[in-house]
Formats: sequence, C-alpha cells, structure tokens
Amino acid sequence: MFSLRFLPPGSMMKLAFSTRKSFLYRPLGGNAHFRNLLFNRFRFIAVFLIVLSSLTTISFIIIQQPYESELDIPTSPLAIPPVPPEPSAPEIAPPVPEFVGSSVYHPFVLPPSSKYLADQTVRSIKAHKSISDECLDRWVATGQWEAPCTENMVDDAMIDLVYTWVNGSDPLHEKARMELEGATNYNPAEARFREHDELRYSLRAAHDATAGWLDTIVHIVTPDVPHPDTETQDALNTTSADQRRLGLVPQWLDIRRAFNGSDGEPPIILHHDSQVFRLTGRPGATLTPADATDWLGKVLPSFNSHAIESQLAHLDPGMVADNIVALNDDQFLMMPLPPSAFHSTLYGPVFRMQSNFRVGGDASGNADGGGEWRSLGWASHLMSQRFGDRKRPYMQHNARALSLPLMHEMSLAFGSYFAATPLSQFRGSHNASEELEVNTIFMATHYVIERHREALLWSWVVAKWGGRLGVLDRDQKKRMWRELGGREGDTLQLQQEAKRSTKADIDFNLWMAGVQSPTSPNSQVMGNTIYSWVSMDGFSASFLKLADVTTIKRRECIGEETELAWDMFLRLAQKDITCGDDVIATLMHASPSGLSVFLPPPSTQPSSDLDPIILPLEMPAEAPPLPPNPRAFAVRLFMRYAYVIGSSTQSFITPKSARQAATLLGNVSRRKDVLMCINDDLVDNQVVAGDKVMRDWFRRRWPNKLQYEM
Ligand SMILES: *[C@@H]1O[C@H](CO)[C@@H](O)[C@H](O)[C@H]1NC(C)=O
Ligand SMILES: *[C@@H]1O[C@H](CO)[C@@H](O)[C@H](O)[C@H]1NC(C)=O
Ligand SMILES: *[C@@H]1O[C@H](CO)[C@@H](O)[C@H](O)[C@H]1NC(C)=O
Ligand SMILES: *[C@@H]1O[C@H](CO)[C@@H](O)[C@H](O)[C@H]1NC(C)=O
Ligand SMILES: *[C@@H]1O[C@H](CO)[C@@H](O)[C@H](O)[C@H]1NC(C)=O
Repeated sequence: MFSLRFLPPGSMMKLAFSTRKSFLYRPLGGNAHFRNLLFNRFRFIAVFLIVLSSLTTISFIIIQQPYESELDIPTSPLAIPPVPPEPSAPEIAPPVPEFVGSSVYHPFVLPPSSKYLADQTVRSIKAHKSISDECLDRWVATGQWEAPCTENMVDDAMIDLVYTWVNGSDPLHEKARMELEGATNYNPAEARFREHDELRYSLRAAHDATAGWLDTIVHIVTPDVPHPDTETQDALNTTSADQRRLGLVPQWLDIRRAFNGSDGEPPIILHHDSQVFRLTGRPGATLTPADATDWLGKVLPSFNSHAIESQLAHLDPGMVADNIVALNDDQFLMMPLPPSAFHSTLYGPVFRMQSNFRVGGDASGNADGGGEWRSLGWASHLMSQRFGDRKRPYMQHNARALSLPLMHEMSLAFGSYFAATPLSQFRGSHNASEELEVNTIFMATHYVIERHREALLWSWVVAKWGGRLGVLDRDQKKRMWRELGGREGDTLQLQQEAKRSTKADIDFNLWMAGVQSPTSPNSQVMGNTIYSWVSMDGFSASFLKLADVTTIKRRECIGEETELAWDMFLRLAQKDITCGDDVIATLMHASPSGLSVFLPPPSTQPSSDLDPIILPLEMPAEAPPLPPNPRAFAVRLFMRYAYVIGSSTQSFITPKSARQAATLLGNVSRRKDVLMCINDDLVDNQVVAGDKVMRDWFRRRWPNKLQYEM
C-alpha cells in the first residue's frame, strides 16, 4: 500500500527573521566561517553582541580560573572510572581491491579474537568536552546561549553517514546464504536481497544534500565471506588462511579512490561484519575472548539487518563521528540540508517519530518475525522494564539521526540482549524466549529520551532535595510540594498552556552559536526541519508537546512521610511514571525557559573529572554517593542526553507493480520532500519491469556521477 506521511509545518517560522535566516542557511565552510561573520551585517551584529558580552564577563573568567587548577578531586562511584583507551592500530588500511571471478572484493584479515569483546568503557561526547562547565551551566539552566557561552562558536555538528548494504546477488554471499539456509531449513523472502542500484543513487543524493557539511565521511557496512582460497591453502599456511576474508563491494565503486576522498566528495570507507561485531554482556559481566569466539561462530555470517544494526554501536569511534545519520540504501536525502536537520551540539540529535503510532511491549515472540513487529515489541518490552511501562512511538522509516556514543552506552546497558539479537542469522529465525531480536533504532532513540527524563528526576529529587544526607523528611516533602505549586489539599491540578519560550528561542540560540538553523526560508530549495519538541522543555508523555493538564496527588506522588531520596527517584522514574511525568511537566510550567528548577544550588566544589558523567547503567537499589558538585554533574547529564523530536516532509513508498512504481515515483517528483524511502514490494512477475522503472527514475533524478563511480 501507498503510504505518505506529510507532517504539517509548526508555528515557529518567524517571518521577521527570514532575511537573517536566508543568509545563515547557506552552508558555512570551515574557512569561510569568520569571513561570513564579518561580511554580513546580521552576523556582524552577533559578533558585536558577543564581544560586548565577553567584555562584561572578563572579570568573571579571571575569578573562574581556579577551577582549572589541579585539585584532589574525590571520585564518585556514580560514573564509570575512566580507563585509558587501548592503543590499537587502525583497523582499516587503504583498501586494495581483489578479483574473484568477475567480481571485485575488499580483502582483509580478521582481527585477533581478543578484539571481539566490546569496549566496556562508556564514551564521552567529543563536542561537549570543549564546552566549559560555566557555559553549560548557563545554557542548561536558562535555555539561552549567551555569555559565557558566546566566547566560542560551537560550529555545525560533524556528522557521518552510515549505510548498511548488501548485494544479495553476489555469488560468494549467495553461496554462504544457501549453505546456511540448507543447514537451518530457513527460507527468507527474496525481496530482502533484491537490489535496484539504490545505493549508487542514495550516495549521489546524499552528496547533493550534504554539500557544505564539515568533514563528513560516508561509511558503508557490508557483509564479508571467507576467502575462497581458504579451502585450497596448504597446511603450512592454514592459520593465516582462516583469517582471510573478502568484504562485499559495490561493483561500480572505485574503493581506492573512495577511501581517499576527492574534491568536494566525502571519503567512503567500507566496514565489514567481521570487523564490526562485538560481544557484549550484562553490565558487570566478565567475558573472555573464548566467549567472543564462540559467540561469533553462532552469529556470523549474518543475513539479518536487525543483527547488523544491533552491532553498529561498535563501529570504531576513531573512524566514525559521534553524530551519525543511519541509512539503508533505499533511503534518500532529497534536498540540501543543514547539519542541524539531524544534529546540533546545542540541542542534540533530531529524532523523527510517528507520535500517534505507539508500540507496546511484547515479550512473547508471537508477532511477525519476518518484518519489524517482533523486534519492536521486544524492544519496547525491554524499555518498559528498565524505564517504566508505557507505549512508545515508532520511528519513521527513513534516514535517522543517532548518537554513536549513546548507542554504545545503550548496547552496554542492554548488553546481553544485544548479544542475543544476531543469534537470528536470518530475520526472525531465532525465537527463544529472552533471545529475541532488539530493534536498535527504536531502542537507541527511546534510550536517549528516557535517560534524559531519568536525569531530570534524579537531579530534582536526589541532587536538589535529597542533598548529602539523601533523606527527604516531612518538612522537605512539604517544600517539594510547595515548589510544584501545591498548597493545602491533596490534589494539584494544572490546566493551562505552559508559557515557555524554548521553541521561539531556537533560531536565535543557534545563530548566537554560529550554527545554521534547521528551518528553511525556502522549502522549495532547501529542506525544512521543524523542531517540534526540544528536551529543554523536560519530558513530554505525548512526545508532541508539554502537557497542559496535569494532576498530582500529593499522597501518591510526593508523599508526606520521610523517604530516601533515591527511593522516591526510583518510584517516579520507573514505577509510578505518570507521577514522574506530571512532576516534570508541572515544574516546567513554573519557568519560561531552561531547566534551572531541576538543578541543585551552585556549588564551589570542583566538578567531577570523571569522563563521561553518567548515572549507572542499571539502577542499583541503594543510592550511590552524590558527586562532589551535584549541579555540574546534573548539567552534564542533561547535555549528554539532549535531543529534539523533529519533522521534515517525507514519503515512504512501497510499490508492488511496475505501474504503481511509476505512479508513486511520479508523485514523488512533484513533491518537495526532504526524505524518501522506497521499499521494494514488487510481486514476482513485476520484478523486471519494476526494476527498470526504478532505475530510470533514479537516473533522471540524480544524473551526475560521483568521481568514485567506475
Ligand atoms: C600465507 O597467506 C598470506 C595471506 O594471509 C600470504 O600473503 C602468504 O603469501 C601465504 N604464504 C604462503 C607460504 O602460502
Ligand atoms: C551485485 O552482484 C551481481 C553479481 O555479481 C553483480 O552483477 C552486480 O553488479 C552487483 N551489484 C552491485 C551494486 O555491486
Ligand atoms: C590515496 O592517497 C595516498 C596518500 O595521499 C596516495 O598515495 C594514493 O595514491 C591515493 N590513491 C588514489 C587511488 O588516489
Ligand atoms: C516463537 O514462535 C512460535 C511460533 O511462531 C510461538 O508460538 C512462540 O511463542 C514464540 N516465542 C518464543 C519465545 O518461543
Ligand atoms: C500523491 O501525493 C499526494 C500528496 O502530495 C497524495 O495526496 C496523493 O494521494 C498521492 N497520489 C498517489 C497516486 O499516491
């Protein structure tokens, strides 16, 4: 069926700013940045304001210097201690293509089995490290990007594109699949392996859409097969022969040139399943290289895109940017876009979801395992177990913004489930209880949202009210109730639209930071993205807007008796989540912008040198000690999990016949969508004709070859 999801633009486009926006919208190259600042009158005013505000804060800066001196900082068990990264040789050397028959492959040697254990160190977000505590405090507390933040521009987010791709007709890959199908009696649907040269055109489209992005690299994750020589190697050389693999390569891609990159075209780097898959376990579990070797033997080769997505978190962070846009080859960026359409350092990744289409938890494994349903139900179940029971929106099936460090954190938090997912070598093939496939995209998105919500409640209940003693007595409970706006009586009801300026401030904040706005002055030429929900407004149970109506029952939600702050936090965060949601929404109503109401008072204690700052991956029953500077800690937490729920026009088409493909694609041509996905649902007798329609359309839409195309 044809399904077209058109999202109405929100109300935040402000005509008064259109001139400024039209200038800012132009992609800013690295060097042009300061030229642009000086030669544009709007930017010039911004610089002037910045200089002015810096002058007024110079004395402030001098006083703040002692923060940087070396102090004996007590460590907090709340965060994972920093472990020096293991020095590792770059895993991927410049590729040298190798022919087997008439097909070209990317030969490589398997890494040693010790490498197959996941890196257990939670990672920081690189762009946040260069932002001072003083700036972050101001930003998170007020929602205004102003001094002391304006001393440095933050730059547009650096974003890499990550494709997962397979050529189902590749002879060696097909052979491996047949062998596994024979061994397991499993018959996957053919469409999953058909191809219409989508990758070539998706890359051309991405090149047009991301021109002007800073230092973007395109990564393509493809399967690999044993080197056919393996079987004929003489005994003397068997050890190394076993380690030789061939990675699949798009036949039209000059992988040598692509690796180097060329004028104006981002480098393309190939990664292969055997280089990416890593064993994770329950948090705290000790795993050995032997476990990893054993696991790999059960999960590779993989013909399951869910399995491959479940491992993307292990892409080498030395090669792949923190901010990624994950694409399948049938997903296309249709228009030039600013980086903030997907990520910005200020507001975080931009998640596109279908707020009115919710997925509930289902641990039974009964749902269809050939599509997405079984994995969605399981993923939603896992989220509900960890963060409280609710239905969560489905993510739009199109290019997705994801954070690699946060995906990695999540894959450690749910380590055993991520390790179980690739046991399904075909989609849905492994159906043992507790070992169903996770839906990585769904979980990676909701994990960020939930960790942000958790941080809000931790900060208000544990850090602000619980304080050092960690006990909330009757008097404090009364003051908490008062802070919410409660008076006499047991019920606090709110029934009005919150007066928050968060959304109205977005363009100005980005402008002050030197970042292009996601909104387009002309959506016929540049893709427009609306930030419809920003985590600076707390948490939205509707995933759409701040609740206008909240009801808090004093006895049930806050209580009047003495309680450990940690217990109250766990109650609001995981058990009585409606109370938690209403508490957050009610607190948001009390201030016009920022999250200051959640924060404990400023402290003169040095902020933690722990890196990164996170709450435990699994919440312990007993409270861990407070960090030395709870406010600085909370501010970093809010920043780490900052996110946006956004929307751009998009289409998702699923042609079943050649004629339908022509109609649907004709319709796409007339529209000016930002994103498009074309899912091959062609019935058997339509495959040849449908393929021609699709290829012809792609060729007309993106006629210009990349320099790497042979
Ligand atoms: C052993 O295999 C390697 C490739 O891994 C190859 O370069 C080398 O020439 C082989 N040696 C012999 C003696 O076959
Ligand atoms: C896929 O494999 C087939 C068979 O080797 C080949 O003809 C085709 O060009 C390949 N497609 C791509 C995009 O590499
Ligand atoms: C890639 O870059 C390296 C180093 O700059 C150079 O030696 C090599 O010739 C380049 N390869 C291609 C195919 O352009
Ligand atoms: C697995 O699949 C079967 C049949 O589709 C179903 O009855 C069963 O409940 C599923 N779940 C588990 C956990 O085995
Ligand atoms: C073409 O797109 C429009 C939306 O722009 C939609 O209403 C219409 O149903 C589409 N036509 C077909 C044939 O799908």
